[in-house]
This record gives sequence, structure tokens and C-alpha cells, in this order.
Amino acid sequence: MTRRYYVTTPIYYVNGAPHIGHAYTSVAADVIARFKRLAGFDVFFLTGTDEHGQKVEQAAQAAGMTPIAFADRVAADFRDMYDKMAISYDDFIRTTEPRHAAGAQALWKKLEENGHIYLGAYEGWYATRDECFYGEEELIDGPDGKKVAPTGAAVEWVKEPSYFFNLSKFGDRLLELYETRPGFIEPASRRNEVASFVKQGLRDLSVSRTSFNWGIPVPGDPKHVMYVWVDALANYLSAVGYPDQTAPRWDFWPANLHLVGKDILRFHAIYWPALLMGAGLPLPERVFSHGWWTIEGQKMSKSLGNVVDPRDLVAEFGLDPIRFFLMREMPFGGDSDLSRRAIISRMNVELANDLGNLAQRTLSQIARNCDGRLPPQGTHTAEDTKLLAAASLLPQIMHEQIDRQALTDALEEVWKVIRACNAYIDHQAPWKLKKTDAARMGDVLRVLADALRIIATVLQPYMPGSMDRMLTQLCVPDGARDFASLDTPLPAGCALPAPQGIFPRHVEPEAS
Ligand code: ME8
Ligand code: MG
Repeated sequence: MTRRYYVTTPIYYVNGAPHIGHAYTSVAADVIARFKRLAGFDVFFLTGTDEHGQKVEQAAQAAGMTPIAFADRVAADFRDMYDKMAISYDDFIRTTEPRHAAGAQALWKKLEENGHIYLGAYEGWYATRDECFYGEEELIDGPDGKKVAPTGAAVEWVKEPSYFFNLSKFGDRLLELYETRPGFIEPASRRNEVASFVKQGLRDLSVSRTSFNWGIPVPGDPKHVMYVWVDALANYLSAVGYPDQTAPRWDFWPANLHLVGKDILRFHAIYWPALLMGAGLPLPERVFSHGWWTIEGQKMSKSLGNVVDPRDLVAEFGLDPIRFFLMREMPFGGDSDLSRRAIISRMNVELANDLGNLAQRTLSQIARNCDGRLPPQGTHTAEDTKLLAAASLLPQIMHEQIDRQALTDALEEVWKVIRACNAYIDHQAPWKLKKTDAARMGDVLRVLADALRIIATVLQPYMPGSMDRMLTQLCVPDGARDFASLDTPLPAGCALPAPQGIFPRHVEPEAS
């Protein structure tokens, strides 16, 4: 039986163009999805766009477009960004699709049927930018003395009839969830924040609005549209066919992993499990919230004009260096800064020097001194065995790290082996062996080629294009690039294509 793995990104608001923050979460999910596929899992990788609500409606108005025409345009832009970032999603859901409305309305009806929804009136603070209701005590003083949301977003006083979800009844069950399944929220520091928020007591959640109509109608009362977060969270279910529990994809539920930024942890770690409990559905295995990028030391914002389009970085530095940078620079779960200097340094040190040179040295010596043919596996010395053993352990060690979303640690694990290979090549000095012991030279180069094959195989999820090229240069056939294929040695004598540098150094143009 194939093992299944279901991973999601947030579905992004279409109020503005995709930026590096969106690309970051999606590259991380992509690395995980690709890794699990190489390990033989049947993967469902879901992403998409969140298209309803006041925030999108206002952005469409400002652009002089209807909400749906506006959403069509921005959703297409997200797909374009995904193509340019090599995001291997299996499905892209848009909340304006009929299949999604059906799923979201079915979830609503189930909650109503189970007695968790009642009609009342909402009176309180709302931040459109966050699409979030806040309690008075959560507000802070803004720069001009006005009260603002803890995120800095402007709030307005809202008073309207509203349906409520009886979230207040779920506090104890949520706390029990966090306690009995500590892996449900990661990293642990965030789990504690969430738990203390819940311990303070939860208010019932307003789940419908009547003051605008860009949303999914509430079943049976179409004057109301569903609160955009209830609508949005339901995407994780509607994409696997909910409410049709005989749909082929339903087997993927519950999701293994919801990847989110720390800004939206509350919605995923409190509202979402409570809604699922209310509907009697199994809970996802984990919500992992990662940290925040600043840009050259500053918060990214439209008003500062420093919003980074990942496609611009890709055009300048190349796709894989950018994917690598994103996964390497920010310890997954922590915060980090994106700067030109840091990108160039990662490219030149870790890619060009460490990995690029290793491949280039190995492949060019095989080309020059072994007639361009892969040498046979020779008798291994203790040093050979040690290096190959370290490389062979990578898929297993990394798999355990990937399952904990330790995406940066997993890279570090590969780099330990890359550095060991560089030390090995210096120490063995195969170029000197050519005259003295050609057979040993062949053995050494073959050890390096075998280690490189493993390195390139496990790095495919991070840098798919360049590692594909490296595997081609190593004579690894297209269909033999998954982890299981590593058990079959490459045939000796295979003619290698002429070696080509994979990671050029980046040289800044002279400042004029
Ligand atoms: O919140 N650093 O959509 P959104 C890191 N529609 N990640 C960042 C980032 C940054 N500076 N900026 C954004 C929504 N992100 C809802 C989600 S899900 C059912 C509904 C990433 O367009 C990060 O993943 O505001 C964050 O959680 C997400 O973009 C917010 O995207
Ligand atoms: Mg946001």
C-alpha cells in the first residue's frame, strides 16, 4: 500500500500581487512534497487563492474592476509566479470555484446540524486588513493615538446581525488537544502562545457578515455571507472532495501538514480544529508556523515600496540559487532578513565553492583522465567506506528532519557530506595518482561520483533543475532518481556528457 501525504500552503489573498513571503511558504511546501514523492509517498500538495471578503472587494474597487475579474487576474499571476518558482502543486483551489462553495456550505450545514451555530448580533472591532475580529483588550495604541489591532492594522467598530459559531465551548477540548498531541502545533514556542491565548477564555466567533456580499452565501439565509476565514479554511476539505466522502481524494484527509506563517497561526491552531471538532471530522496531524522575512532590515510593505517579487530575484540570480537561499538562510521556524549581500554570499560560498567545485573537479577529472567513462567501483579503503556511509545515510536522516519540518537542518546535513567530500578529494589527490596508481585514481573518482549522486538525489527537492542537470552529468537515468534507485549502482563504463558548471559565481557589476 502506498503511503499518503497531504501538505498545504495558506491560500493567499488576491488583494495584491504575489511576493517573496508567499513564495517562501510555497517553496517550503514544495520541498516537502518533492521529498516525500522521492521517498515513494503518494503526495497531494494543495495551494490556491482566497478570493472573498471585504479586503479583496475593496482592492477590486480600487482597481476599478469587478471582484471576480480582479480575482481572475491576480490568481493567474500567482500561477505564473508558481511556474517560475517550479512549485509542483497537485491542485490549485480558488475559493470562487463552485466545488469550494459546495464544500464550505456543507461544512456550515454540518456545524448547524450539530448545534454549533446560532443567530445573534455582532458588535465589536474588525480589522479588514487582517480579516479578523479583535477584543477591546487586544487593541494597542497606534502611531496617531488611535486604537489599532496588535498587528498594526486599522480597526473599525462593526455592528450587524451575525451568525455565531460557539467557539467558547471548545476551549477545554483544544487545550486537551495541545496537551495530548504536542506535535499538533510546531514549533513548541508557538504552541505555548496559542495555549495561553486559549486559557484566557474564547469568545464565540462571528461567522457571517451582512454589510457586504462578496462571499459564499450562508445556507438558508443568503442575506449573510460566510466570514472569509471560515470560507477559506474549508478549502483544505473542499479540495479533497468534501462533503463527498467517497471522492477519490477523500482518502488524503486528514491533512498531514498545514504550513502557515506565524501571522495566521491563531486561525489554523484554534478556529480550524474547533470547526473540525464541531463537524465531527478528524483533525490534521500538524500545523507548522514559520517565521517572517524582512527586506534589507525593514518590514516589507507597499507603503515603503520594498515589496519583493520573487520573479525579479529569479531573473537576476537564477531559480535554484533563490530556492536554496530561502531554505538555507532562514532557520525554518525562525525569522530572517533578505538582502542582496546574503544571497550572493550563499551563492558563492555554498553553491559555487562547496558544491559546484566538488562536482566540477570530480567530473572534469573523469572526463580528462578516465576517457569520460564512469570508473568501476573498486575495493574501498576505510576512508572510502566512511565517506560513502555518511552519504548513504542522508535520505534516512533527512526524511526524519523533513517530517519535523527541519528544512534548514536537512540542508546542513547534506553540506556536512559535501564538505567531507571536498576534504576527501584534497587528501586523496586523485590528479597525482594518474601516473602512480591509475586504478586507485579510478576508485577515488568513482567514490566521489557515487557520493555526488546521492547528494544530487537528496537535493532535488530544494533545487530541482540544477540537480536534474547534475544527475544527467553523472549518467543517472531519468527514471532512476528517487531514493529507492540509490540501491542500484550506476553501470561502470557509462559515457558521461561533457561536464558543465552548474553554479557560476555571482560577480556584482562594478559600481560606476
Ligand atoms: O493570510 N515572511 O493570506 P495572505 C514570511 N488568505 N512569510 C510571509 C510573509 C513574510 N514577510 N508575508 C506573507 C492569508 N507570508 C489568508 C490565508 S489560509 C486558509 C488563508 C506568507 O495573502 C505566510 O505564509 O495574507 C503568511 O501566513 C501568508 O503569506 C499570508 O498570506
Ligand atoms: Mg496577510
